[in-house]
Amino acid sequence: MNIRNFVIISHIDHGKSTLADRLLEITGTVAKEKMRPQFLDMMDLEREKGITIKMQPVRMNYEKEGIPFVLNLIDTPGHVDFSYEVSRSLAAVEGAVLLVDATKGIQAQTLANLELARHQNLEIIAAVNKIDSADARVEDAVHEMSNLLNIGDDEIIKISAKLGTNVSQILTAVIEKVPPPKIENSGNKNQPFRALIFDSKFDAFKGVIAYVRVIDGTISQGEKIYLMATKTEGFVKEVGFFRPEFSPQQMIAAGEIGYIATGIKEAGRVRVGDTITRFTPEIADPNSSIKPLAGYREPKSMVFASLYPENPDDYDLLKDGLNKLRLNDAALNFEAESKRALGRGFRCGFLGTLHAEIIGERIRREFGLNIIVSTPQVLYKATDNNDKEFFIFSSSDWPDSGLIKEVQEPIVRLEVMTPSNYLGRVLELLSHMEAKYIETKYFGSSKNLLIYEMPLREVIVGFYDNLKGVTQGYASMNYEVLGFRPADLVKLDVLIAGRQEEAFSNIVPRDKAYSEGSKIVKKLKEVLPPQLFSVALQAAVGGKIIARETIRAKGKDVIAPLYGGDYTRKRKLLEIQKKGKKELKEKGEVKIPPRVFLEMLKR
Ligand code: GTP
Repeated sequence: MNIRNFVIISHIDHGKSTLADRLLEITGTVAKEKMRPQFLDMMDLEREKGITIKMQPVRMNYEKEGIPFVLNLIDTPGHVDFSYEVSRSLAAVEGAVLLVDATKGIQAQTLANLELARHQNLEIIAAVNKIDSADARVEDAVHEMSNLLNIGDDEIIKISAKLGTNVSQILTAVIEKVPPPKIENSGNKNQPFRALIFDSKFDAFKGVIAYVRVIDGTISQGEKIYLMATKTEGFVKEVGFFRPEFSPQQMIAAGEIGYIATGIKEAGRVRVGDTITRFTPEIADPNSSIKPLAGYREPKSMVFASLYPENPDDYDLLKDGLNKLRLNDAALNFEAESKRALGRGFRCGFLGTLHAEIIGERIRREFGLNIIVSTPQVLYKATDNNDKEFFIFSSSDWPDSGLIKEVQEPIVRLEVMTPSNYLGRVLELLSHMEAKYIETKYFGSSKNLLIYEMPLREVIVGFYDNLKGVTQGYASMNYEVLGFRPADLVKLDVLIAGRQEEAFSNIVPRDKAYSEGSKIVKKLKEVLPPQLFSVALQAAVGGKIIARETIRAKGKDVIAPLYGGDYTRKRKLLEIQKKGKKELKEKGEVKIPPRVFLEMLKR
């Protein structure tokens, strides 16, 4: 069998899914009448947002000059938050089609994804897309790419994924340039079987379905399998290929990309990066000759947000939902937590704010749960007076200020790619941030890559949108976490009628405490419903009040229902109201409706 395994990688929106559509058509994998744009984006959410969130494998058959080929393609996401999906796909293939949009040229993720592909020693096929567009600057994009890759202009394929122009050249290049998989033990049933799990999905009937790249040997339906890292036995309920839907086969063999339905239903047993082997009595022996495959470096979540069910009774359903999503999203992790105002929920680690937003949305759609997602915050690290280090996931973990020796926050290396004509605006935007300039790299005469170091905290509060805004979408960014560095941060407390409300507190840089504090109390004033007595809204740092707003008392017209006469009854009602107000004030209790927590979390 002539097999070629490849991915399509690019910056976000440069046309990966559209190119995949054309490849599916040319190879007859999807019938024309069934074709719809971005066919491989399986989730409604992906189609609505027009972005790929999940990688998606598909197996295509293609005949070139009478010779049949199997082409296994993986379409990948482009957004920086989903680069873990890209890196996992790369370990399953031998080649990558690197796509660049002719209207934009190379962008930040073009560089980042190229670097990932080179790291895996993949054969790179370069293509410039959208040559049909009126805004296309094809020759500029070609030059940028040929410089970047150090190849001749004529090696770059110029295509329109939309119209299909020259797309068959991509297939030819894949067949001619991408090396076939190295197969040493294929077809020999007695050889040890090894497959790398690069993704997974839960199925109520078939258990966890592992998406695998088979490295050695073969496996068939009905055989016993073993997961090496989690030391778990399973049974092959089904094996097959992606067409792109699951297509059951008798067996899968070395060099192929396919799936194994494991029958395993417990969460955490089937892990991305683990190796599946055939189960034998000696497999669990540490001296076994079968060694696990390299696997992946676990992604480190640096952005955290809390998820709470709106209805506390849905806690177990939310837990179940998160466990199932985790199978399909290896970058998601979570731990149970509880908050006085919100009840029981989960603290979740994400790769970025879009990732957090998508998980919230998937929980709502795929599991029908109404949930509250708090504003994502970065992970902080602190050292106490005994030099003990601990992590701060949210402001409620913040210890009394006297107990902390030092706080550290994640710092990123930020790369901003911008055309020269927007350079001034980009520099202006960055000048308002706590960003330290490192260097500029030049790509051709009209493109700059600005490199900065800055707190991740600054990046996640809308930097990407602002950058797009000031450059009409022509600048792009990528970041990589460098590590933790000391930071001057404080906890901003919020007091309502003198009582601290933990759910509203926040971690902020000391020099922004005053402005942040004023913002919070102003917002609270807007969203809190009127109360029967006046309520002080205060922001404080270390017990010192730094901002204040007051909600003025709003009397309820208790005597309105009484028409005319009966003065004594009116007075009685007013007396009762007065007493009630006094009692309420003494107790200082302000009822905060869940809606307010929601509004404040969204700020
Ligand atoms: P992500 O996976 O979210 O990174 O996006 P993608 O790279 O898969 O891009 P996608 O295929 O979703 O295309 C992005 C946009 O570009 C869509 O609006 C496409 O219709 C458009 N597009 C893709 N290819 C072409 C092309 O050849 N010509 C023109 N004019 N538009 C194209």
